[in-house]
Amino acid sequence: MSGVPTRPLGKNGPEVTRVGFGLMGLSSYYGKPLPIEEALHALDRAHELADVYDGNEELLREWFERNPEKRQDIFLATKFSLGALPDGTTSRDSSPAYALRACEASLRRLGLSYVDLYYCHRLDGRTPVEETIKAMVELKNAGKIKYIGLSECSAASLRRAHNIHPISAVQMEYSPFSMEIESPEYKLLETCRALGVALVAYSPLGRGIMSGALRSVADFEEGDFRKTLPRFSVENFPKNLELVDSIGKLAVCKGIHPSQLTLAWLLAQGSDIFPIPGTTKVERLRENVDSMFVELSQGEAMQFRKAVEEANVQGDRSSKELTEMLFVDTPLP
Ligand SMILES: NC(=O)c1ccc[n+]([C@@H]2O[C@H](COP(=O)([O-])OP(=O)(O)OC[C@H]3O[C@@H](n4cnc5c(N)ncnc54)[C@H](OP(=O)(O)O)[C@@H]3O)[C@@H](O)[C@H]2O)c1
Repeated sequence: MSGVPTRPLGKNGPEVTRVGFGLMGLSSYYGKPLPIEEALHALDRAHELADVYDGNEELLREWFERNPEKRQDIFLATKFSLGALPDGTTSRDSSPAYALRACEASLRRLGLSYVDLYYCHRLDGRTPVEETIKAMVELKNAGKIKYIGLSECSAASLRRAHNIHPISAVQMEYSPFSMEIESPEYKLLETCRALGVALVAYSPLGRGIMSGALRSVADFEEGDFRKTLPRFSVENFPKNLELVDSIGKLAVCKGIHPSQLTLAWLLAQGSDIFPIPGTTKVERLRENVDSMFVELSQGEAMQFRKAVEEANVQGDRSSKELTEMLFVDTPLP
């Protein structure tokens, strides 16, 4: 779509649209997967509207097979490292051997010869980050990936990684409910800015709560991953609605949807922030893309931040097991 705002993804990086489309919820995690034709329709609509993709490789293969001429229009990102073990726990593997193997497997599932951006989803805490990045550079030199990214790394890991090869983007949870990347404790956003690394904001709508449509645990389908998150526990959910409602009031004053206001506010935090909201509803794609055209006055942005800072968000953003996999450091080589 012409006229959509773009910015370079990292210093000297490729121009990508400011708002991307996260595909995770289309076929996993958030309740029942969308029927394939509906999911493909969502991808058709997303192609008309935006440019950044992530995950769901078999679904994308189907879409690329139906639309081979559109590969060049898409800035496609995928990740490696996290996996599910038979006992239900989560594995991570950022070893060089796994990075190479996982990329081959992704390309096979996608039916493509390259992906634009390849992220290490989680550093495993055992492999020095330098070794992980060297393997990713090998993939880049072989033409299998174009740009290198990390997700949920610590600021120190990012600096070490960047010393080996420029990192284009770091994908971190960033929303009114998850502001840790700004904190002096983690210094993640500050480090990205010092190095010229883009910040891709995942779960920018707080996994949907900012939309105002989710009001209690009962709104989640059976098997929805969000039920396992402390933030959405029976005890914490009602308390967390206070922030949703205060942002909702600001959105009403501005005459826009709370999701749009949230995305517009994240975009206003800097031209290096790229939110990737997810949705299974075609009409919401448009709504989210339109957030790129919302202009916030300084006063509106300050009111929004005040609401975020005054909120007393209850419960961690991740389960105990997964919390250990956030802001990850690795041993020295
Ligand atoms: N790096 C990581 O570790 C990591 C972790 C989690 C996610 N991610 C990435 O981030 C992407 C986005 O994450 P997310 O799905 O949690 O993002 P999100 O945008 O915060 O939340 C998605 C939820 O918001 C709802 N929603 C979206 N737009 C809406 C609108 N305009 N109005 C009302 N409701 C709306 C969706 O419901 P409907 O489907 O009903 O519209 C969906 O349940 C994922 O696809 C994945 O690529 C990365």
